[in-house]
Parts: sequence; C-alpha cells; structure tokens
Amino acid sequence: MAIIKVKDLCVDYGHVRVLENINLNVNKGEFLGIIGPNGGGKTTLLKVLLGLIKPTKGELKVNNKRPIGYVPQFSNFDRGFPISVLDVILLGALDGKIKFLHKFKKDQIRKAEDIMDSLEILDFKDRQISQLSGGQLQKVLIARALMVEPEIMILDEPTASLDANAKTDIYNLLKKLNKDKTIIVVSHDMGVINSYIDTVACLNKHLHYHGDDTKLNKNTLEKVYGCPVELVAHGPTPHRVLRVHEEDEDDNRSL
Ligand SMILES: Nc1ncnc2c1ncn2[C@@H]1O[C@H](COP(=O)(O)OP(=O)(O)OP(=O)(O)O)[C@@H](O)[C@H]1O
Ligand SMILES: [Mg+2]
Repeated sequence: MAIIKVKDLCVDYGHVRVLENINLNVNKGEFLGIIGPNGGGKTTLLKVLLGLIKPTKGELKVNNKRPIGYVPQFSNFDRGFPISVLDVILLGALDGKIKFLHKFKKDQIRKAEDIMDSLEILDFKDRQISQLSGGQLQKVLIARALMVEPEIMILDEPTASLDANAKTDIYNLLKKLNKDKTIIVVSHDMGVINSYIDTVACLNKHLHYHGDDTKLNKNTLEKVYGCPVELVAHGPTPHRVLRVHEEDEDDNRSL
C-alpha cells in the first residue's frame, strides 16, 4: 500500500525549475534510498514531502496519521548552540508548538530516556551537544525525530562526514527502525545504502525511480551523475573500487 504518492510534481525557486515531473510511490514499510549529485534537488524533494515547500504543480498524497519524523541535513545544524542532549531530544516532542518557559512532563522525559536507551546514547543525556562526536550527534537527532512516534522517517544525509563504523552503526539503527516504520534516506554513500535499502531513486532534477530494481549499477549512476562515480563494495573484506573519468584511466585501481 502506498503511504506516499507523488504525481507529476514540479518545484521552481523563482524562475529556476529544480524538480521536474517527479513521480514516486513509497509503500508502507519500504526503505527508500535517494541519491544524486549536489544541487540535484534531494533536500527540496524531502521538504515537499514534509509540506515545508509547496510544489509549483503536481500532486502529493501522504497517507499517514502521525507526524513525519525528520532528521535534517547535518550541515544545517548549529552544533555550537548551548543545549543539552536531553533538551534537544525533548524539543522533538513540541511538534512546532514552542511555549516560553515550557515545562516538559515526566512521561515525556521518560519517553526521551527510553529512546536514548534504545539508541545507546543515554550516557550522554546531560552533555552539551557541542561535546558529542558526529555519530553521537546524529543519533541524538534521530532520537529527537522519534519523539513524535512517526510512521515515516525522513533523513537527509544522516551519515555525511561519519567514518565507516559510525555509518554502519547508523544504517543498522535505521534497519531496526524499518521493522515498523517507512524510511526515506538521502545519502551519497551509494555502496553502503545499497546493502540496506529496498528501493533506490536517483534524483537530478528528474527522478529515476527503480521500483523493484534495487541494484544500483554503474550505468544508472553515471547517467544521473553525468560522470563515473565511486562505489564502495561491502563484502567479507570491505574494499573500495575507485572508478575514474576516462581521461584518468591509467589511475584506475582497486584498494
Ligand atoms: N531556498 C532556495 N531558493 C532558491 N534556490 C534554492 C533554494 N534552496 C535550494 N535552492 C537551489 O535548488 C537546487 C536544489 O537544491 P537542494 O538543496 O534541494 O539540492 P540537494 O540535492 O539537497 O543538494 P546537496 O546534495 O548539496 O544537499 C540547488 O540548485 C539550490 O541552489
Ligand atoms: Mg541537500
């Protein structure tokens, strides 16, 4: 059953079209990966799904009863802001209604603690967010999104700038959450997401949606990115296959 339906959707910023005739169905329980080059419109599409940006034309239907859990793009988050981990997570429960000197109820605090416990970040509860590693902060942001008990989670590059172990940790967590939630994740970690997702969509103004064809292959990626790209393969021994531009063919190597 489709929980999200997007039909012939376009988005313009001023006179510039950034999304063109997007068609996409996301089924309940699906784990969808969205990839594409910088500026391809990924964040814009997520914001349309969240209702933060109105499409210029086309249709959007989101068939869920709960608010969507949203983990925004990391680089937009102010890490220097003086606030504790617990407070960041509790803010997720406010659902837009921020009152001056808001006091959180005991059950909300307990809920935040339960979520932190399940994400193994309870030890950091009273720390300032500026004192966390990138991977820990990303978990805090996921915990914050979980406060609304979402059926759908949307994450915008949750593993950008994390090391390989932290990336795997986050994707394992998302896979767990996927047991009872629909997950949409934007990522540049093509090789990594490939082993977790059910479906993949490649976005570069146009959406190349692969439906049941879950495998990212070199042709698909090159078509969307316009040039050869790097694939990280995960096997018993993780290894990196560097694909290079034609003119650099001599440099082609496998590490
Ligand atoms: N508020 C805005 N006003 C005007 N143009 C915008 C605005 N937000 C984004 N854009 C432009 O729209 C295009 C798509 O941006 P978007 O942030 O959706 O891309 P993205 O795929 O998320 O990129 P990245 O991988 O760098 O995060 C870009 O060319 C960007 O400059
Ligand atoms: Mg983006």
